[in-house]
Amino acid sequence: MDAPRGVFDNEEAATGESGMGATIIDGKAFAAKVRGQVAEHVARLKAAHGLTPGLAVVLVGEDPASEVYVRSKGKQTVEAGMASFEHRLAADTSEADLLALIDRLNADPQVHGILVQLPLPKHLNAELVINRIDPAKDVDGFHISNVGLLGTGQKSMVPCTPLGCLMMLRDLHGRLAGMEAVVVGRSNIVGKPMAQLLLGDSCTVTIAHSRTKDLGAVCRRADILVAAVGRPGMIPGDWVKPGATVIDVGINRVEKAGKQVLVGDVDFDSCAKVAGAITPVPGGVGPMTIACLLANTLTAACRANGLNEPEGLTA
Ligand code: GUN
Repeated sequence: MDAPRGVFDNEEAATGESGMGATIIDGKAFAAKVRGQVAEHVARLKAAHGLTPGLAVVLVGEDPASEVYVRSKGKQTVEAGMASFEHRLAADTSEADLLALIDRLNADPQVHGILVQLPLPKHLNAELVINRIDPAKDVDGFHISNVGLLGTGQKSMVPCTPLGCLMMLRDLHGRLAGMEAVVVGRSNIVGKPMAQLLLGDSCTVTIAHSRTKDLGAVCRRADILVAAVGRPGMIPGDWVKPGATVIDVGINRVEKAGKQVLVGDVDFDSCAKVAGAITPVPGGVGPMTIACLLANTLTAACRANGLNEPEGLTA
């Protein structure tokens, strides 16, 4: 394995020593850098082509967590110089009305990216709704066409969280070719696309999950260990190969000393003693998701207009 290069060429404060051995990967700083790159590219598109990338976010119902995400997405979209279109629909919106809205957004040339916030109310078929989005505007990368394109190594829209993890890994290691990668978790949103992206960068990839035999031994093979299982603190330090890079995708709300706190899928303290680099929770992978949503919207706008894609912001 190559020695970690330290996150960010020419920038400081992107990583910090944990005092326990591992470099702490600062996802907040990294996401700010990605958003800055997106904003610069957007400014150039506007100046050279009069083109403003636009992102439409559709929220059905009033789920409080979704409200927070959608507000944050809208704010960051505008800060990057892009157009933000928010569509808030009542919780009892019919499937036909939601599909009709997606059809209008698909046909709207000012909209380059469409995101339907999940989860949807139970009476709506999420699969049907997602697959109604024009795959070229599917900035979540959830459309079945994009899943197939990614699986066959073709140009696609890539799910935001795994794309963010890939960007951090490339920044840290440069080329990933030949590295042993273990992805713990097999979800369609993170585990499977993460594995495809690592394979695309020529890693030797294992997807492990709750039924994997001797999960600890499998994890100890990893130069790159990605945890995306949704189980708080499930991966202990003695499952980590010394010097490995640990990417923690988990965001679990748990009670500690009577307080609600966020923890990842890895036991941070014990893993940071062994790892070479590790993402914290919060402040690791989390902030990268919206940054990559903006990057995907920019990519979609460039593709729709036959322009070069933004370098370093795609898979
Ligand atoms: N709900 C929570 N995270 C996401 C996401 O990344 N995309 C969508 N569409 N819904 C979400």
